[in-house]
Amino acid sequence: MPGKNSDIQLPVSALIPPNATLPGLREAAAKCQGCDLWKKATQTVFGEGSGNAKVVLVGEQPGDREDREGRPFAGPAGRILDVALREVGIDRSDVYVTNVVKHFRWQGAAPGKRRIHKKPRASEINACRPWLDAELAVVRPQVLLCLGATAAQALLGRHVSVNQDRGRFVESSLAPHVMATVHPSSVLRSPDSATRHAEMKRFVQDLKRIADLLQEERAAA
Ligand code: URA
Repeated sequence: MPGKNSDIQLPVSALIPPNATLPGLREAAAKCQGCDLWKKATQTVFGEGSGNAKVVLVGEQPGDREDREGRPFAGPAGRILDVALREVGIDRSDVYVTNVVKHFRWQGAAPGKRRIHKKPRASEINACRPWLDAELAVVRPQVLLCLGATAAQALLGRHVSVNQDRGRFVESSLAPHVMATVHPSSVLRSPDSATRHAEMKRFVQDLKRIADLLQEERAAA
């Protein structure tokens, strides 16, 4: 893995190439050692999608599956996201999907057991932030959707509660239209199938507001 033997921890900002493209950023991020998470992670999981995407979705950090595959939202939470996007008529290939932290933070795992996701620390979120800012500077989305409390609080402020503030557009300098909703993994954590169904419905409703906005903007263009 590139850079794995170096003892020098360069800040992320020193790695970001000037006038970067998404492939250039991805290549640079593969060498990132801006915090300690790279030491236990398999690889950097950079954002995925078109530089022309109108919508950017931001999650927390890659999970077990994403860490192995190197793609954001490739695991169970990604499947919930894909179903919800499809229901509102948004094609995943038309959105850019990324995370506030680009390495998997995990603990435990006896041999052959699943590694347990741990929430990233504020220092790790801050160290990783220049990558997200660089992605947003290239994509310049019309709509930014924060998936879950970690992304919402990192990008919109500690006061944000996804349960209370979900599904409404809020003022932000990050994009013309910014919204937070729950993380798709919260749908999976529902205690029973009736709750899961209801939570999925609410998640889809939040995404529908974005689909409607895109449609209005297309009609007005
Ligand atoms: N959860 C996230 O927040 N991001 C991923 O990429 C996968 C799961």
